[in-house]
Amino acid sequence: MRWNNNQVTKLLSCDYPIIQAGMAGGVTTPELVAAVSNSGGVGTIGAGYLAPDKLVKMIKTVKNKTQKTFGVNVFIPKLPHYYPDQVARSRQLLQPYEQELNLTPRQVMKSSESIFEEQVNAIIKSQVPVCSFTFGVPDKRLVEELHKNGVKVIGTATTVEEAVINEEAGVDIITAQGSEAGGHRGTFNVSFDQGMIGTMSLVPQVVDEVSLPVLAAGGIMDARGLAASLMLGAEGVQMGTAFVTSLESGAKKQHKEAILHAKENETTITSVFSGKPARGIDNEFIKKMKPYQKELPDYPIQNELTKEIRKEAAQRNKPEWMSLWSGQSPRLSRSKHASDVVREVIDGVEKLYGRSN
Ligand SMILES: Cc1cc2nc3c(=O)[nH]c(=O)nc-3n(C[C@H](O)[C@H](O)[C@H](O)COP(=O)(O)O)c2cc1C
Repeated sequence: MRWNNNQVTKLLSCDYPIIQAGMAGGVTTPELVAAVSNSGGVGTIGAGYLAPDKLVKMIKTVKNKTQKTFGVNVFIPKLPHYYPDQVARSRQLLQPYEQELNLTPRQVMKSSESIFEEQVNAIIKSQVPVCSFTFGVPDKRLVEELHKNGVKVIGTATTVEEAVINEEAGVDIITAQGSEAGGHRGTFNVSFDQGMIGTMSLVPQVVDEVSLPVLAAGGIMDARGLAASLMLGAEGVQMGTAFVTSLESGAKKQHKEAILHAKENETTITSVFSGKPARGIDNEFIKKMKPYQKELPDYPIQNELTKEIRKEAAQRNKPEWMSLWSGQSPRLSRSKHASDVVREVIDGVEKLYGRSN
């Protein structure tokens, strides 16, 4: 049996088990999503921060660019703890940055209204083929609803137990997110520290414990990563960082440049930007805010509080104050078309596995 003929490609009706991670915050342009899907993988819209009406528009644009399977990624909401003194402390710490950038302090709502339900309705109404979740597990009934409407469901796990919880909820495929992964941790059932398992350790242990197909995520940038993942028992990969630097990615130019020039030891896990641990390239903002990390509000409150600083820092070309999410393999990143990223992974695996396999 050929390496690409497996449960993942069957379930997702795609040619190759290469999933481009949904990356919220403008990285996943319709051009990127469509390029990956048209190359035989599965492109994903990162809709975590996207208003439902904008999501509907983006889905339409993607559908105009590809007939192939694509997905939408959303965040499972969790009501944050709102402590006024934490917010006041964060405001105080952020003041010097806001002052230098001529920004007025942001208003944060006490309970942020969740856009999750509307996002899911948009996914169902627009007949999106795949929906992936992170930061938690979708409700069993929601999974049933998605299935009834022909939507395949992908869950995220950072431990074996989280994978089992996803399986019990009825998802179709599980992404095992190793600690190498760029961006936010999907951890939801243990402390973030306990959820820091490397991809090589996590994948086979998840594979042994669940009967669903598993995607490996974290540090996978090329054919070697996909081939190794298959050897570990995964049936595909989810790649993020490798697509951030692609020509079709909507990442800010400073973000792309930072990844393209970073070394393997230059990323760190931080929650100072958003209130939730995420892996990105270490910079001045992270270093200076680190001593106060435990005093800051939860996600998404801190995310709201730093939003304008991050945006304005990009405008003024100050990457040292931007969130530069990246996995631990930035040396393997290249500036090239997303279709070439996918094509080179496929060709490389064909060579490693042999065409007859
Ligand atoms: C810039 C960036 C943004 C990300 N945003 C999301 C997101 O919105 N939702 C999600 O499920 N995962 C997100 N991730 C994590 C990916 O799903 C995936 O776990 C990770 O990219 C895999 O590791 P890699 O970056 O080394 O390929 C993001 C990753 C990056 C690099």
